[in-house]
Amino acid sequence: RIQTELPTRPLLFDFHGVSMTHHFTDNWEKVQSFQARPDDILIATYPKAGTTWISYILDLLYFGQSAPERQTSLPIFMRVPFLESDFRVLPPGTEVADKLPTSPRLIKTHLPVQLVPKSFWEQNCRVVYVARNAKDNVVSYFHFDRMNMVEPEPGDCNNFLQRFMDGKMVFGPWYDHVTSWWEKKQTHSKIHYMFYEDMIEDMGRELDGLCSFLGLSPSEEEKERVIRGSQFDNMKNNNMANYSSIPVMDFKISPFMRKGKVGDWKNHFTVAQNEQFDEEYQAKMKNTNLQFRTAV
Ligand code: A3P
Repeated sequence: RIQTELPTRPLLFDFHGVSMTHHFTDNWEKVQSFQARPDDILIATYPKAGTTWISYILDLLYFGQSAPERQTSLPIFMRVPFLESDFRVLPPGTEVADKLPTSPRLIKTHLPVQLVPKSFWEQNCRVVYVARNAKDNVVSYFHFDRMNMVEPEPGDCNNFLQRFMDGKMVFGPWYDHVTSWWEKKQTHSKIHYMFYEDMIEDMGRELDGLCSFLGLSPSEEEKERVIRGSQFDNMKNNNMANYSSIPVMDFKISPFMRKGKVGDWKNHFTVAQNEQFDEEYQAKMKNTNLQFRTAV
């Protein structure tokens, strides 16, 4: 059932209280009944928070030495299946996950915490969550939706920003996503909550924290190899990491590996937009102690 012609842009609809497109609900029965294994590692993020970056780091950590051929022969989206996806141009995420020959399985999801299949909690799986500040996150999401034909039509920058503030994005409001995963971490000890800004600031420190959470103790040389391999320019030039083999993205509009910076929002937000955004942000985030940095 793999489709070969390019898809048309999907519409947003409400799905259990979260805006979604059919690409993430078509396979819902299989997603919900997905059987996690105790050693599965779930990579959870809001879209554009650094999912591919952390996926690549985890893949290098676990398989960089034991299965180096993966790095040169399999694109990252086949190594780290996107659980709820059903794009038709690729096999559905559940199927790719079920067929993964390696262990542990690294599985990616953008689902808000309340929609994660229950077996991940039953099996007490480790979860690595990466969050990115809202302003850079929305800018990255805007450029992504411009070039990705399986995303809803983005409209202009101003409309997109309004939609983001209204929570009418695929996978729902950023505000709810980052805060409910943060809350979940208070009761589920196996969630490692990371920040894109921290990774930019000091990858060595972040890698140490990640390894300690995973119970891994790579050598200094091994860590160096992971840090080097996952640097922005190396990933951008790596056809197995940069999504260049996926047929639904038009890199002439914007590349997947776009800038990889903290603070690019300053090149996009007007003063008025920034003021409105800050005001709404404070209201929406008033009940959480979760803090983000918009510069490093
Ligand atoms: P920008 O659009 O701001 O450049 P995701 O993988 O969740 O879709 O996130 C994509 C964002 O992460 C893009 O942000 C991309 O450039 C950035 N990114 C990917 N790999 C990175 C890396 N190695 N270092 C820094 N940023 C990276």
